[in-house]
Amino acid sequence: MLRNCLNSTRRFASNKAYQVTTYARPEDLYITRGVNAKLFDDIHGKEFVDFTAGIAVTALGHANPKIAEILQKQASTLVHCSNLYYNVECLKLSEKLVEKTKQLGGQYNASRVFLCNSGSEANEAALKFAKKYGISQNPKKQGIISFENSFHGRTMGALSATSNPKYRTPFGDLVPGVTFLNVNDDLTKLQSIVNSKGDNLAGLIVEPIQGEGGVFPIPLETLAGLKEVCEAHNIAVIYDEIQCGLGRSGKLWAHAYLPPNAHPDIFTTAKALGNGFPIAATVVNEKINNALVVGDHGTTYGGNPLACAVGNYVLDVIGDQKFLDQVLEKGEFLQNGLKKLQAKYKDHIVDVRGKGLIVGCQFKENPAAVVNKARELGLLVITAGKNTVRFVPPLTIEKETLKEGLDIFEKSVEFVYHK
Ligand SMILES: Cc1ncc(COP(=O)(O)O)c(C=O)c1O
Repeated sequence: MLRNCLNSTRRFASNKAYQVTTYARPEDLYITRGVNAKLFDDIHGKEFVDFTAGIAVTALGHANPKIAEILQKQASTLVHCSNLYYNVECLKLSEKLVEKTKQLGGQYNASRVFLCNSGSEANEAALKFAKKYGISQNPKKQGIISFENSFHGRTMGALSATSNPKYRTPFGDLVPGVTFLNVNDDLTKLQSIVNSKGDNLAGLIVEPIQGEGGVFPIPLETLAGLKEVCEAHNIAVIYDEIQCGLGRSGKLWAHAYLPPNAHPDIFTTAKALGNGFPIAATVVNEKINNALVVGDHGTTYGGNPLACAVGNYVLDVIGDQKFLDQVLEKGEFLQNGLKKLQAKYKDHIVDVRGKGLIVGCQFKENPAAVVNKARELGLLVITAGKNTVRFVPPLTIEKETLKEGLDIFEKSVEFVYHK
């Protein structure tokens, strides 16, 4: 039985030629299964500590038994019925997203939810809703402010608000009207730019912690100052919480570190919401919802009962103060470990930063050799932005697995820099 399974896995694993050329993947590594924060390549007989969580997705661990049970039960009850009709799981999840958000210090006036299938789609919806809100005030109010170093997705709208030229330039003309600012600029300068364009701006989109850009938590004063100027011009503020949300920062949402007057009009979530099952959401306040009418937006799969059943469970687990506290505790352990390593390798590691279990360790030069050595020694990590190794393990990682991964990372740095 096991041999049959391995043989058929081997056969598919050699069929790489059938995939389009969009990903660079390590050769000779095939993930066959996972358990919480461990991944296994049974073809090559290897085991890994997983500090990637499928890019901040499997917050409740790989092959979570409770999620497997929910999927199995819901799949034999109702998978899909479209948005032509109400389904109970979708209604439950919408209510839970709004109520948990308000209970746990997130958007104080969260009110309605649009459910879809991926982070990019959630941002597409957010950008469309912001534009509709702008146009409802004045047909010229359509522009979007975004930030350098941001990442909002690969679909045309989300890509238009993503700054990285590597992702943008191959695709020619994108959605017009997006202005990129540098979040590190002086706040008064940023505010005066927004002020000067105010009548032509529909929305501002920002990740409270920039993830792909290199793990940069945006100073709370900057977010609050941007919200203040946007509020003065009725510009919809969108917080992209797709990577940094759902407990990763140690609060349910990264924007829950902000006072209510700096909360967004719209926020987006995806990744951890389905623990790997595709689902995403765009949450809005009543002001935004009032600009929308039936038919403005839609999706065939969004809000399907299968995905929503998982989302309901994920929110129950993560939306609990005790769960969030243990994320902060593990985050502190991880950052402290990395800071000790930085002290030892101060000529090579220039910064350790982050919040909760989204942590970046920035090197002076490209850390590819460290990442490759770590993989060889049994640890999976990803890079982000410039020279930064990103740590986004499952939020349920055991303390000893976290330590095991840190030890492997230290050995990898040691190997590359010979200390
Ligand atoms: C902050 C942020 N926004 C949007 C996205 C896009 O999400 P998806 O890949 O699910 O479309 C990502 C994905 O990495 C992200 O990190």
